[in-house]
Amino acid sequence: MNPLTFLSILFTHFLIFISYAPLLASTLNFKLYEVVCIEYGVRVSPNIKGCLTALESDPRIPEANTYVALSIFIIDQAITNSTLSQNFLKNLMKKDYSPAIKQCANKDYNGIIKALKNALAFVIHNPQTAMTYLRRDLTYAEEKCSEAINADPKPYFEVNVLIRNLYFYQAITELSLNHLINQ
Ligand SMILES: *[C@@H]1O[C@H](CO)[C@@H](O)[C@H](O)[C@H]1NC(C)=O
Repeated sequence: MNPLTFLSILFTHFLIFISYAPLLASTLNFKLYEVVCIEYGVRVSPNIKGCLTALESDPRIPEANTYVALSIFIIDQAITNSTLSQNFLKNLMKKDYSPAIKQCANKDYNGIIKALKNALAFVIHNPQTAMTYLRRDLTYAEEKCSEAINADPKPYFEVNVLIRNLYFYQAITELSLNHLINQ
């Protein structure tokens, strides 16, 4: 077989694989958090193991039997994680007077945590509204902090890690909520 034909067959199989992976995951009796991490691996970033390990730090998550429960526990973890990030930024602010740090530590992380709490409040009765809080308010606050940090001439590696953690939580919360919306 010519190598190009081989590659195109491989590519087609890959496409079939990625479009069916979530379906496959649910028919193979994976736990719900595993399904969400597989979807994350397929659609967002290939680090499925990192996703599983992060979520397993809350023992309730591997036991979650409904996407409502899973979404609630993931948002809980996101709120805890973001609160620790905000504390880190507030400490940093004491020795670093950059306006970007001040903005992230106060306004932006307040907005981030508020958006997550609002999303949490709507998971049970209106997951679509919970999704809106993530896509609109969380994204807005996250972008504001990220833009401020990137505009600062000083490189803030640790702050970029905090923001990346938040992108991770946003992505998996949205993937989990999707199961409540598209049914
Ligand atoms: C926040 O979440 C990320 C991703 O799960 C994790 O690597 C990090 O350790 C968490 N931070 C804290 C302070 O727990």
